[in-house]
Amino acid sequence: MTSLTLINRATCIFNTLIKLPATKQLVPFFPAYHQHYSVSSKQVSAKMATEKTLPEIFKYVDQNKDSYKQLLKEAVAIPSVSCDVKYRADCIRMVHWMQDKLKEVGASTELRDVGFQTIDGKDVQLPPVLVGVLGNDPKKNTVCIYGHLDVQPALKSDGWETEPFELVERNEKLYGRGSTDDKGPVLGWLHTINAYKGTGAELPVNLKFIFECMEESGSEGLDSLLMDKLKPEGFFDSVDYVCISDNYWLGTTKPCITYGLRGISYYFLEVECAKMDLHSGVYGGTVHEAMSDLIYLMNTLVDKDGKILVTDIYKSVAPLTETETKLYTTIDFDPEAYRKTIGAYKLAHNGVKEQLLMHRWRYPSLSLHGIEGAAFQPGAKTVVPGKVIGKFSVRLVPNQEPEEVEKLVFDYINKKWAERGSPNKMSITAQSGRAWTENPDHPHYQAAARATKLIYQTDPDMSREGGSIPVTITLQEASGKNVLLLPMGAGDDMAHSQNEKINVRNYIEGIKLFAAYLFEVGKLPK
Ligand code: BES
Ligand code: MN
Ligand code: MN
Repeated sequence: MTSLTLINRATCIFNTLIKLPATKQLVPFFPAYHQHYSVSSKQVSAKMATEKTLPEIFKYVDQNKDSYKQLLKEAVAIPSVSCDVKYRADCIRMVHWMQDKLKEVGASTELRDVGFQTIDGKDVQLPPVLVGVLGNDPKKNTVCIYGHLDVQPALKSDGWETEPFELVERNEKLYGRGSTDDKGPVLGWLHTINAYKGTGAELPVNLKFIFECMEESGSEGLDSLLMDKLKPEGFFDSVDYVCISDNYWLGTTKPCITYGLRGISYYFLEVECAKMDLHSGVYGGTVHEAMSDLIYLMNTLVDKDGKILVTDIYKSVAPLTETETKLYTTIDFDPEAYRKTIGAYKLAHNGVKEQLLMHRWRYPSLSLHGIEGAAFQPGAKTVVPGKVIGKFSVRLVPNQEPEEVEKLVFDYINKKWAERGSPNKMSITAQSGRAWTENPDHPHYQAAARATKLIYQTDPDMSREGGSIPVTITLQEASGKNVLLLPMGAGDDMAHSQNEKINVRNYIEGIKLFAAYLFEVGKLPK
């Protein structure tokens, strides 16, 4: 089949599923953009891209800086925390908000239902996934963009200097939950389209969008939407490249392009000793305490140097090759600056750069996250918790398969539980996402590198990352195309942490970077 018929098919599907406005108009996102459009006249046919296109776009981006910040403020104000059902309505609101913005830049959109999630035995509606299409010129390349609209929880009392859901500018930095992970980058794509349109330039590529609001909670339902619905419907047939901006520079000055992510296998380890919490003065000494059992188990998982103690867990890890070893030496990474940024006392592996990077990118790690049901609030609560749930995860690497790692962890915990000989009730469950790597010696990466150099006047490092974006490998498999991670934020943005921020510079230059990236991909042979 030719790509033309495929594109038509995909477009048809979209047109039947969504209600398009009778007349398509160019509507700005919000008033500040208004003045740059010729609102009164019909859309004048857009200019073909020339060498002047990008400089004009960059100027336009600088002129619209304030409105781009304003839109991020609006997005940050929606507390779309995916892991807490209390905020589910906000997550849904967030997706609708983004749908409106995508429509305003001219995209056809639809909201796809991905069903329910079971929490404490109850079915809870998942937020819909926003799918969009902008352009279907068979002569152009098509880029599929993924991003997430949900965020990690945040409370001022966690130690934030300002309200987490209020975007605040201080010292050229925009503080707020989601500013860098991942609302800033997602809005960056919108602004890029806005800037192309605002300067009257034609978009150099066709765009397809997948924006979800459950990434921070494991992207439930998304894999099956992609593989069982979008793929059979032909959504990926026209896709030539996939781009995700949901990562960060390695440090604070040098940009990078990312070709690998670790996966994750997240565990809930539950121990119950009684049907309720008990007064430790009255019951202490008379029951086998759940918490002691749990701490015992959790303490068998990893040693003080971070070596995972689960039997055979390193067995399937891809062997380190000579060529790969060399790659780490050239990466720009300053362990001491890294240590200072996070305020750590001492880094693992004696702070040796190559070892740190390898243990962050290509070896598994096991982290203990917390204990539900423990008396973690301030104050001396004298209680024996009746049930506690220990949470830990293993970051997965090539060639570790989630099922295999889950089995190793379950077997190990069962063995340790038998050794403990406790009469209490223990159970363990897991949820996992696979690791992803891509070939960075690909014209797609070279295009992104040229774009990065144009914006930041330096060649980006080709890097991997230790974090996880579960859908990345699914996008790679569903499209069969090259996938690339193009970061907007800096290495000290502190995603998930207190005082998450994005530098004004990264946000604004990031929009230009996306514009240059689309321009470069537009030049790649079809
Ligand atoms: N943006 C991150 C992933 C990431 C982190 C990429 C660091 C590059 C560097 C993403 O939002 C994230 O936090 N993912 C979760 C996934 C998990 C909850 C399934 C993660 O890595 O913990
Ligand atoms: Mn993210
Ligand atoms: Mn995140």
